[in-house]
Amino acid sequence: MKCVDDFRLTFGTREYVPIIVGGMGVDISTAELALEAARLGGIGHISDAMVTDVSDRRFDTSFVKDKTRLYRYNIHNSDKSEVKFHLGAIAEATRRHVGATMEAKQGDGLIFVNCMEKLTMNAPRETLQVRMASALDAGVDGITLSAGLHLGSFALIADHPRFRDAKLGIIISSVRALQLFLRKNARLDRLPDFIVVEGPLAGGHLGFGMDWAQHDLATIVHEVHQYLLQEHLTIPVIAAGGIFTGSDAVSFLETGSAAVQVATRFTVTHECGLPADVKQEYFRASEADIEVNTISPTGYPMRMLKNSPAIGDGIRPNCESYGYLLDGNGHCAYISAYNRELALHPDGKNLSVKDKTCLCTQMRNFRCWTCGHNTYRLKDTTRRTPEGGYVLLSAEHVFRDYQYSKDGDIAPAPAA
Ligand SMILES: Cc1cc2nc3c(=O)[nH]c(=O)nc-3n(C[C@H](O)[C@H](O)[C@H](O)COP(=O)(O)O)c2cc1C
Repeated sequence: MKCVDDFRLTFGTREYVPIIVGGMGVDISTAELALEAARLGGIGHISDAMVTDVSDRRFDTSFVKDKTRLYRYNIHNSDKSEVKFHLGAIAEATRRHVGATMEAKQGDGLIFVNCMEKLTMNAPRETLQVRMASALDAGVDGITLSAGLHLGSFALIADHPRFRDAKLGIIISSVRALQLFLRKNARLDRLPDFIVVEGPLAGGHLGFGMDWAQHDLATIVHEVHQYLLQEHLTIPVIAAGGIFTGSDAVSFLETGSAAVQVATRFTVTHECGLPADVKQEYFRASEADIEVNTISPTGYPMRMLKNSPAIGDGIRPNCESYGYLLDGNGHCAYISAYNRELALHPDGKNLSVKDKTCLCTQMRNFRCWTCGHNTYRLKDTTRRTPEGGYVLLSAEHVFRDYQYSKDGDIAPAPAA
């Protein structure tokens, strides 16, 4: 029986361990986590979600405070159209976050940045362009486009000197999304370097409707392979979503996938950015504690723990400080949901908004516990502490377990 280490992901003349740690915003896939994946010969992702806030925390900058000060006058106004990001601030924050990560890179692997299109930041094209260009300026090895169809994203950086040398890929959840992407980008004469096919068991936002359970990863991966074959295209396909053991990964590698992208197993590692008590929530979760709901204002279903404090919270929209989900007209679905509740309870006390959440603030404060479907199995990957908690793992332990394990095994947590 084979293990993941019997396979390699090839980009040009270079080979990598075919394990990619997926992007997890907001700074759940930290630089430390991504750097471990790269050091071990695979690929790690950082995320540029809420990058100005991430920079403030990582480098003690004051982007969020400065923006809040500038727009304080608007806090009680439900019209957020004036609340714009300063493009220079996005560029600087991205260059710091990406640049410091690249400087710290060791080993033969790669560092990519996860770029979500749904972070529309009240100027979708301009902000996405700056995010991607600044990441390339800062030397990132590659960009993974996610949470959106990205029909115009390649064009936004087509003039960048690194447009043809950086690894650029896209996450899709259907052949249809891939077809649209390829068709729209045909005139640029630049194919994606990789295609991540993300199935319905992944964490974060899902590229499916609430009928997600009727889809399955292996079928979509197969359809994508068939389509690429028919079009005579050779692009590495990377399977993602619900791949929990090395053997799960091998089953995709043996059927033509070039690599796997994984995330959930790494949420309970020391290097993951979630607070320690939240990691214990992930360990404790049973299958019944996990749901896919529609509270994300992006319009995509999202998987999370049912006891996430974000669910039903009624905080005032915080767009003057954050505002990453404001669309091109300065609107976010949470603002309407909040205002509806405020009109019903004008004193504003104990406000609860059930149908949407203020995702920026809740993700920023680690109160929206988004997770993969297999989170309920994390407890089987470690042992208990004498106090009744669960022992955190190192990213290296989890990475090597994916790389070398066979027979559906999961390596026991190292002894204390
Ligand atoms: C906590 C968490 C946060 C995530 N956040 C993002 C994100 O910000 N952007 C994204 O494209 N995918 C996100 N994902 C999806 C992962 O990158 C990955 O593709 C997927 O979860 C792999 O499936 P697995 O978690 O079952 O291994 C997230 C996943 C998890 C578990």
